[in-house]
Amino acid sequence: MRKKIVITLCLAVIALYFFSTFAVADEIKPIQLPAPQMDGGKPLMQALKDRRTSRDFSAEKLSLQTLSNLLWAAGGVNREDSGKRTAPTARDWREIDIYVAMQEGLFLYDPSANLLKPVLSEDIREMTGKQPFVKEAPVNLIFVANYSRMGGAGDEDKRFYAATDTGYISQNIYLFCASEGLATVVRGYVDREALAKKMNLAQDQAVTLAQTVGYPKK
Ligand SMILES: Cc1cc2nc3c(=O)[nH]c(=O)nc-3n(C[C@H](O)[C@H](O)[C@H](O)COP(=O)(O)O)c2cc1C
Repeated sequence: MRKKIVITLCLAVIALYFFSTFAVADEIKPIQLPAPQMDGGKPLMQALKDRRTSRDFSAEKLSLQTLSNLLWAAGGVNREDSGKRTAPTARDWREIDIYVAMQEGLFLYDPSANLLKPVLSEDIREMTGKQPFVKEAPVNLIFVANYSRMGGAGDEDKRFYAATDTGYISQNIYLFCASEGLATVVRGYVDREALAKKMNLAQDQAVTLAQTVGYPKK
């Protein structure tokens, strides 16, 4: 009898955990992004000339089209046959996921489906960094390394390549922003542990960097 009660209680706790985890994401729907526009933009040399860090953001939201273009530039699929991306990764591990924190909630960018998958219905922008502008700016991208995709690499190599591969994504974003007249700053000043907990990241996932994007404050 006692055993039965203990088992029932355990099942109830497990059910409650899964309900609380998934119910939150259920409250917001996936966002199908429009096809990214690959024509236009400034010539590369001009974009390089204009690339810079800016920390003054307006609260104005990005359109879905701009968000789609931004994410495609960051790490979208540019070769349909292989699924390879706009940013290189060591051994083609594709271990960096891009999470998007907006007022509407937290989403995970799926490059193959050009989709934003809901993760949390909460506005967690404030938790994506220790600088005041993060809660004002419309978009904070969070780069998450998935060490389980990195084969048999040792821990040091995993951290090194995950950091390197994040850098390529970040620079793509810098160049896109320079081309589009958007403001951006890549950020290491993040409470990674607290953010990972909030995002319900697994043991083999880690936040590498974050990057804020928005229109410049007028
Ligand atoms: C890996 C990395 C981490 C950074 N972390 C922060 C940060 O936490 N907060 C911030 O305001 N700027 C951060 N920056 C932006 C740098 O301060 C900026 O790139 C530098 O001052 C040079 O300015 P520029 O990008 O306009 O050339 C970071 C840059 C890099 C590459």
